[in-house]
Amino acid sequence: MKYLVTGAAGFIGFHVSKKLCEQGHQVIGIDNLNDYYDVSLKESRLNELDSLSSFSFIKMDLTASQEILCLFEQNQFDIVIHLAAQAGVRYSIENPNAYIQANIIGYMSILEACRVYPVQHLVYASSSSVYGLNKEVPFSTSDKTDSQVSLYGATKKSNELMAHSYSKLYGIATTGLRFFTVYGPWGRPDMAPYKFTKKIIEADVIDIYNNGDLSRDFTYIDDIVEGVVRVSVKPPEKSEEQVPCRVLNIGNGSPVNLLEFVETIEDKIGIKAIKNMMPMQDGDVYQTWAETSELEELIDFKPQTSLSDGIENFVNWYKSFY
Ligand SMILES: NC(=O)c1ccc[n+]([C@@H]2O[C@H](COP(=O)([O-])OP(=O)(O)OC[C@H]3O[C@@H](n4cnc5c(N)ncnc54)[C@H](O)[C@@H]3O)[C@@H](O)[C@H]2O)c1
Repeated sequence: MKYLVTGAAGFIGFHVSKKLCEQGHQVIGIDNLNDYYDVSLKESRLNELDSLSSFSFIKMDLTASQEILCLFEQNQFDIVIHLAAQAGVRYSIENPNAYIQANIIGYMSILEACRVYPVQHLVYASSSSVYGLNKEVPFSTSDKTDSQVSLYGATKKSNELMAHSYSKLYGIATTGLRFFTVYGPWGRPDMAPYKFTKKIIEADVIDIYNNGDLSRDFTYIDDIVEGVVRVSVKPPEKSEEQVPCRVLNIGNGSPVNLLEFVETIEDKIGIKAIKNMMPMQDGDVYQTWAETSELEELIDFKPQTSLSDGIENFVNWYKSFY
């Protein structure tokens, strides 16, 4: 099949593109290669993809809606996996406009293109951040999600609502995937697994928010990729009664305390961290924990990678890459 993967130079987009090519699909990847984090890491991911003959890359910004429309006109995509976005919770406090541009205006370009040039399925990245202040765990897709604590979460929730309206109005089959803290080789420099590994190796101080009293449902990249690829060929059914639109959690389903997480990294590197205990940060939530039975039933797959194995793979990648 012919896939469009947006954000193909990004962490998840890179892995998804690679997997799809390995399965024999044709993939066109787009990305604007912005400098939110080290551009050379994005270029290195693209260099890896370059060796795959069924992958091609086009540098393109989501907000260039006419270019996006032309791209869809020239390629009859079967499936779109929309991962390009301004990611990161804390940066949305510093630069809220980046989120409106990429996640609202850019997202709209993709929806419109799917309306004008229909595809079998639009799969897009939502986030566990939509659960915001929710206290009840594990987080279920049937829970109310009206209390985002960051503009990032608010843009992801907006994406889900926009998808629903386009599914209803134009019959576009959409699936929003609420990702829970994804980590692994080629991971993002702005996220804890990367930041902690780098700082521990360099004997630098690591900031521990809320004095370590936080927990995250860390999910290994290979499990995420498996889930995304399997979901992509399972569009919601179109029927008279039902809007072909769904939202699913995709996460490990076993939250880990922040200090335990740091300990795992320390063990894999063989060096103790120097910790700086900090208060809770604006935009942060206390815990995340995915309830994933709906996804598991749909795709017959459950995340399989333990934190210990996943962190070991990440640390090994980090050491060999840098
Ligand atoms: N990694 C996680 O833990 C996590 C958790 C929840 C949700 N998500 C979501 O999953 C998706 C992928 O995340 P990731 O971790 O791979 O992030 P990433 O930042 O590595 O990848 C996103 C890519 O999108 C590109 N991009 C941003 N704005 C663009 C624009 N206007 N036009 C074209 N390209 C643009 C960036 O250059 C980047 O390469 C994002 O939508 C993110 O919000 C990720």
